[in-house]
Amino acid sequence: MLEKTYPYYLANQPQTSKTMMEVYDKYSGKVATRVAVPEADATEKAIEAAVKAAGPMKNFRPWARQAVLLHCAQRFAERRDELAMALCIEAGKPIKDASGEVTRLIETFRIAAEEAVRVNGETLNLELASRLDGYRGYTRRMPLGPVAFITPFNFPLNLVAHKVAPAIAAGCPFVLKPSEKTPIGALIIGEVLAETDLPKGAFSILTLDGKRAAPLVEDERLKLLSFTGGQVGWDLKAQAGRKKVTLELGGNAACIVDADQQPRLDQVIERLIFGAFYQSGQSCISVQRIYAHASIYELLKKHLVEAVKQLKAGDPKNKDVFLGPMIDEAAAERLENWIEEARKAGGKLLCGGKRKGNMLEATVMENVPDDAKVNRMEAFGPFVLLAPFKHIDDAIDMVNDSDFGLQAGIFTDSLEHAMRAWNELEQGGVIVNDVPSFRVDNMPYGGVKLSGIGREGVRYAIEDMTELRLMVMRET
Ligand code: SIN
Repeated sequence: MLEKTYPYYLANQPQTSKTMMEVYDKYSGKVATRVAVPEADATEKAIEAAVKAAGPMKNFRPWARQAVLLHCAQRFAERRDELAMALCIEAGKPIKDASGEVTRLIETFRIAAEEAVRVNGETLNLELASRLDGYRGYTRRMPLGPVAFITPFNFPLNLVAHKVAPAIAAGCPFVLKPSEKTPIGALIIGEVLAETDLPKGAFSILTLDGKRAAPLVEDERLKLLSFTGGQVGWDLKAQAGRKKVTLELGGNAACIVDADQQPRLDQVIERLIFGAFYQSGQSCISVQRIYAHASIYELLKKHLVEAVKQLKAGDPKNKDVFLGPMIDEAAAERLENWIEEARKAGGKLLCGGKRKGNMLEATVMENVPDDAKVNRMEAFGPFVLLAPFKHIDDAIDMVNDSDFGLQAGIFTDSLEHAMRAWNELEQGGVIVNDVPSFRVDNMPYGGVKLSGIGREGVRYAIEDMTELRLMVMRET
């Protein structure tokens, strides 16, 4: 169960407040807990503390950073059930998915612990001509300094971990604003970080609403903004001045199923259903578009729709439930309207489409018009569309006919098709023989087009949070 109240964190210290914000159980709709809302001057104090901590964090040795990260991983493992239940309540995430996210949280911190002691440089041969005889170059990675993070509601632990753990490994103090819809995961991470001997001011976790987060975006003392969320990220980039910006902004992920997949169609369908509907499709890489070869299209459709109708929806605390609520009623209503719009424009509803409060049925459609929102925009809910293709060229074009490009999947036995997908799909990542929803926390993760810029996945985030410093030495 959750605590009655949670503090926010300013310069490593828990803080109470006269103003409290309610956090709801997303399934029951009842108030689940209250969190302290930072006082008016808290953001300035947090930035000042982070600026002061830049030196001490830079000098905090790699082994000490590693020890902090390993401590966190161990404490998260000890508090696994509490963390999973917190996610289940605050995000409405089915308990199985919530437990999976805790596993990934622990892995992300362990990966960062390993990376903390191998932030290396290289030796450069500069002797390009006789005038350069005796010159050598050496690089090392220096922490950028204080950085800012803004995280979304859909992975309240692991998407926080993907910013916090690399920052510690890189030696950057940070100010984090978690989603106000799901702040508890970040606050428990804060509680664990407060047990460590991180230098004073190394972290602040501020439970602010979007309007009060402007200084995190605009303040020039912060050297990087890492944002995960919606398309508003591009506006934030425009307001971010000279700081580095990394954006992970979602997509409308597609998956190709090739003609040769008939013998294992059941397994493919199982993965497609997982990819489309886990945590009610509220993942940036949830499967939104399935393109199946015309020769297997009808069979895939029949079995997929039958299986989707069997998915158990309900209270996410129940271990058998696969489909929980969406984050709020407005989100569910938005997608319901998009589905209805597509249906009126000629799309065929194969199952689902109905909504009660923030519970939206798992929905499958076909014949969806090209310009329908459920095709072109990010559904971010329990929705998938099906369409047939005749030739792999067409499938590749269909996947690429999108403003987004985060990850795509292709099920195929053909090495040629797999290589073509990797070569020609305009994506941050291509997953062969699994869904685009696949992610392991050490792989580079991020998109092209409207899906964002930069890569997470611990090592890649560390690269973003550090910059190369060169030393040139001349042999005398
Ligand atoms: C996301 O929604 O961007 C994160 C997906 C994941 O980490 O699995």
